[in-house]
Amino acid sequence: MASKLKNIKTIAQLRECVDGWRNAGDKIVLVPTMGALHEGHLSLVKMAREAGDRTVVSIFVNPAQFAPNEDFGSYPRENAEDLQKLERLGVDLVFMPPREEIYPEDFSTHVEVPGLSEGLCGTSRPHFFGGVATVVAKLLNQCRPDVAIFGEKDFQQLLVIRRMARDLDTGVEILGGPLIREEDGLAMSSRNAYLSPQERKKAPLIHQAIRELAEGLANGGNIARLRETATGRLVQAGFEIDYLEVCNAENLAPLTTLAGEPARVFIAAKLGKTRLIDNMAVPDRTK
Ligand code: PAJ
Repeated sequence: MASKLKNIKTIAQLRECVDGWRNAGDKIVLVPTMGALHEGHLSLVKMAREAGDRTVVSIFVNPAQFAPNEDFGSYPRENAEDLQKLERLGVDLVFMPPREEIYPEDFSTHVEVPGLSEGLCGTSRPHFFGGVATVVAKLLNQCRPDVAIFGEKDFQQLLVIRRMARDLDTGVEILGGPLIREEDGLAMSSRNAYLSPQERKKAPLIHQAIRELAEGLANGGNIARLRETATGRLVQAGFEIDYLEVCNAENLAPLTTLAGEPARVFIAAKLGKTRLIDNMAVPDRTK
């Protein structure tokens, strides 16, 4: 089955190639990305290789999910390195469309997933999940995979996409892959490249703070008090906290007590100019 990586730029060529595989009975798995690939992305690609017969990776820095004041222009673009990494992993096809292929001049449709898109990242980035849901709906239509895989690093995004895929009857199974961290605990992210060496040293504090919060909760601690302690530590270390919340892991409703619900800790914080996000399940010690 080893085949050379196809590098495709148009929807028509993507369809032609994937239709051929589908007609031959292959199971097709899509991993959407914005490139600058790290081990977090690559873990999803490895999952995809296991989950099906043909692996498609898309690389598209989606302007619709960036606000005008955000980092669309400076977002890292490393196409040559990305292609090498994907070729080494045995990916079958990389879809790297130019902007006009995805958003022709008179493009006007927008997909919104209210509810799950509100709160957490949706509060400070109100444009974000609409932009993500729109581009992912398009990618699912363009590729028509059997399965698409997204990372738990962006847990709210995963839930929004799963709901969109179900609500629009895409027939695509949405799988989540575990969050991959650096050795010191920092969640891997293409945006970590923005951190100065000093900021990079401080950044794992985010993970430490939410791990302690999750552990404290699992041991019967009080949500409000644990949040206050974690917030204090991070603010003192120079983080500007966007949110730090404990939410129901299925519907993202904020929790003030655990009460037997599946719970997850979510954080977004700025260190200098870099916005970092992380999340973690609260271990269930009642079982
Ligand atoms: P991007 O940030 O490039 O991430 C692509 C996929 O990799 C997403 O599903 C994301 O959750 C996953 N990912 C990133 N870092 C990870 C980590 N440390 N561990 C596990 N998975 C990780 O997310 C996007 O792109 C875009 O919003 C996209 C879905 C492609 C739509 O434009």
